[in-house]
Amino acid sequence: MKSLSTLSALIAGSTLAAAQSASNNSLVPLVFKPLPLGSISPSGWLRDQMQLMADGLAGHEHDFYQFVAHSSWLGGDQEYSGLNEGFPYWFNGLVPLAYGLNDSRLIGQVTSAAQTVFDRQADDGWLGPENVTSRNFWARYPFFLGLTQLAEADSSWTDKVVSHLQTFNTLMDSMMRDNYTGYQYHDGDTLGSGDFDWGQVRSADMVLTLQWMYENHPGNQSQLLLDNMKYFHDGGKNWEDWYTQESYLDRGFDKDLNTLPDSLTSPNYAYEHGVNVGQGLKAPAVYRRWNHDDSFIQIAMNGVNWTMEYHGAASGTVLADERLVGLAPYSGSELCTAVEAMFSLSYLYQALGTNYYADRAELTAFNALPVMLTPDWWAHQYMAQPNQPYAENLTATPFYNTNSWGQTFGLEPNYPCCTVNHPQGWPKFASASYVQAGDNGLAHALLSPGKATANLKSGQVTVDCTTAYPFLDTLQYTITAASPFDFYVRVPQWATSNSTITLGTSQPSPLTPDPSTGMHKLSIPQGTTTLTYTLTSEITTTPRENDTIAIYKGALLYALEIPSSNTSTSPPKFPDGNSQHPAGYAPAQSKDYEYHNESAWNFAVDPSTLSYHGPDGGDSATYELQNPIFAEGATPGWIEVKGCTIDWGLYKGSTPDYPPAKEGRKCTGEARTLRLVPYASAKTHMAELATISL
Ligand SMILES: *[C@@H]1O[C@H](CO)[C@@H](O)[C@H](O)[C@H]1NC(C)=O
Ligand SMILES: *[C@@H]1O[C@H](CO)[C@@H](O)[C@H](O)[C@H]1NC(C)=O
Ligand SMILES: *[C@@H]1O[C@H](CO)[C@@H](O)[C@H](O)[C@H]1NC(C)=O
Ligand SMILES: *[C@@H]1O[C@H](CO)[C@@H](O)[C@H](O)[C@H]1NC(C)=O
Ligand SMILES: *[C@@H]1O[C@H](CO)[C@@H](O)[C@H](O)[C@H]1NC(C)=O
Ligand SMILES: *[C@@H]1O[C@H](CO)[C@@H](O)[C@H](O)[C@H]1NC(C)=O
Ligand SMILES: *[C@@H]1O[C@H](CO)[C@@H](O)[C@H](O)[C@H]1NC(C)=O
Ligand SMILES: *[C@@H]1O[C@H](CO)[C@@H](O)[C@H](O)[C@H]1NC(C)=O
Ligand SMILES: *[C@@H]1O[C@H](CO)[C@@H](O)[C@H](O)[C@H]1NC(C)=O
Ligand SMILES: *[C@@H]1O[C@H](CO)[C@@H](O)[C@H](O)[C@H]1NC(C)=O
Ligand SMILES: *[C@@H]1O[C@H](CO)[C@@H](O)[C@H](O)[C@H]1NC(C)=O
Repeated sequence: MKSLSTLSALIAGSTLAAAQSASNNSLVPLVFKPLPLGSISPSGWLRDQMQLMADGLAGHEHDFYQFVAHSSWLGGDQEYSGLNEGFPYWFNGLVPLAYGLNDSRLIGQVTSAAQTVFDRQADDGWLGPENVTSRNFWARYPFFLGLTQLAEADSSWTDKVVSHLQTFNTLMDSMMRDNYTGYQYHDGDTLGSGDFDWGQVRSADMVLTLQWMYENHPGNQSQLLLDNMKYFHDGGKNWEDWYTQESYLDRGFDKDLNTLPDSLTSPNYAYEHGVNVGQGLKAPAVYRRWNHDDSFIQIAMNGVNWTMEYHGAASGTVLADERLVGLAPYSGSELCTAVEAMFSLSYLYQALGTNYYADRAELTAFNALPVMLTPDWWAHQYMAQPNQPYAENLTATPFYNTNSWGQTFGLEPNYPCCTVNHPQGWPKFASASYVQAGDNGLAHALLSPGKATANLKSGQVTVDCTTAYPFLDTLQYTITAASPFDFYVRVPQWATSNSTITLGTSQPSPLTPDPSTGMHKLSIPQGTTTLTYTLTSEITTTPRENDTIAIYKGALLYALEIPSSNTSTSPPKFPDGNSQHPAGYAPAQSKDYEYHNESAWNFAVDPSTLSYHGPDGGDSATYELQNPIFAEGATPGWIEVKGCTIDWGLYKGSTPDYPPAKEGRKCTGEARTLRLVPYASAKTHMAELATISL
């Protein structure tokens, strides 16, 4: 084990190296450039999901939810913490939701909110409600990410956004020069030193905005923007110092953190907090754009690989409740972690072009995110568990730092951050679904139904994809091009070799994806072209702890749904769930739910008996999916497996424990055929199934 002083020496060394290599005054280009917000219009089930969000909690927070409607950013006084992050989180998600749907009501909300914040800009350039002694850069990061999206979506906002950000950048530069004021703790600050950790470990989210300014609207600030990137790096907590052999593996962070001494975990909490981990996955790729240090490519991969290998959920997200734990089937994953991991993984694919990241972005999006919302998107969980046969006020919490209400569904169970941060999930996924590839290419990166319009070097192109993917695996494209261009479809790593692509009425061709990006290239002529892309896959299983397995087909995780009933109340108040908001506080649709299992959940399955059953009529791009799709019984296709009940106990008497060792597993009932369904449609589920030989 390395001592902490060795670690600080390592940190100092890498900072110096970064400062030297940052002398190249350009940013390393992204492998795939995102399209401006508004270029992509989701369709099919993805539009239905975003419409449910607009009609549900996300689209109504501005009307009633105190931490948005009466936020101190808008002149009110409601904040759930001194970080003042509630409104910025909401804004970051609502801008892409509003413009992704082109929804005039939501566009009105975000533009009036942005105007209010601008009108309240302090004389010295500060944006946000804080006075001089309570300033902390952190809550600006999500607010600015929302602003850059607004500037792209509506050109009438571009100048205004840029000029307010420029004024702020100048102030930020002077504060950073003044011994990192607003970034590190100083005597006299209202906030404590721990409050500044959030900004230091999440700095890549601010650097994204600085890089956007540098590339698109540098004005006369090019040098100042580079200086600010350097301050954020040099004064922050940097993930490249964390994901090294010495800091991570040698010190045992590849284990269940509950087995490590407090003296080791406590000082490193910023790197162990699940949402920070989700956000931090992109950090090495963001900073590499600035420091040109290609060793950061491997560090980014270490970060994702080690996180997922040692702390990853089968659904694609990170097990951290709220701190990283190990791989126990009762560990929780926070909703904010799922949406932050999705954003990081889609960014990693854009920045580095490694197919693995795009597969993981889809995995998290199609499984980890939607499982945590009620089908109508009015209620969400704070923590989801891989094995969660019920979602109740638990008699004992299995979590490191989350209360007994954490896995119930509601308005603000345990803590309000996910109420305001979850709306970024689908909208950012949709706006990253197509990307620009070179100056005359467009690529479908995150497969899903939607239409993109892009202005390439050769002229305008429109690509419209109709599909029931990931529920079924055929994608149909109609392409209109002013001039010839290159279109690419991403081939997931799970696709089997008989996957094909068919141009117009020609014969299906096999795929020849680029080994790194996974992109299969097609030369598209001028005019209208149709394409059919058919993916094939087999059922796969991955081992989970203690002889359990997770079962996949294509991009979906399959789970045993445990039939359940629900009880509901009007939403209680955070944090304890035991006190009520005043009557009429929330719209009638906003309720808190507990789900109670109506059957046994303690099943073991025989993996040699797995078989897939598609819907009647087979796979088709135009298959009519139900809406809402992430609901009991709504998804087409299922997997059958033989299984039986076994003796399987509870952890802390409250929630399914690890199953007993394989040798001790015996059927306690008849073996029978079980039906596994897409995980996110089954709010009460077992996703890590004990194996048995029948
Ligand atoms: C600066 O970085 C860009 C992008 O990585 C690269 O193309 C260029 O060659 C670099 N210039 C120098 C002088 O190193
Ligand atoms: C958005 O909707 C408005 C009408 O509300 C329409 O004028 C405009 O063309 C739409 N924009 C897009 C990109 O569809
Ligand atoms: C600044 O804001 C903090 C937090 O709201 C408050 O405690 C402090 O008194 C304020 N200071 C001044 C000088 O207004
Ligand atoms: C800079 O701030 C740190 C606390 O963050 C403090 O320890 C240090 O003395 C300050 N340095 C100067 C030169 O003010
Ligand atoms: C940058 O331009 C603004 C006006 O657009 C001006 O006020 C400012 O002084 C300039 N800054 C520098 C460093 O030249
Ligand atoms: C991590 O990398 C190793 C070695 O390449 C690989 O075997 C393993 O599957 C990866 N794990 C994850 C979760 O990506
Ligand atoms: C919720 O569960 C906790 C114990 O885990 C208990 O203290 C509390 O009273 C319960 N609340 C209600 C309303 O049942
Ligand atoms: C695709 O190939 C696999 C073997 O790699 C085979 O098991 C599967 O049946 C084939 N699927 C289709 C649709 O042809
Ligand atoms: C998991 O299995 C290993 C090996 O059999 C055993 O040492 C460990 O105690 C088991 N863990 C749990 C929580 O049952
Ligand atoms: C709760 O149960 C009722 C009755 O079965 C059902 O109609 C409703 O959809 C359920 N609500 C949720 C949010 O699951
Ligand atoms: C639901 O799960 C609990 C906890 O394991 C169990 O005691 C109960 O029997 C299950 N309910 C039904 C109806 O099987």
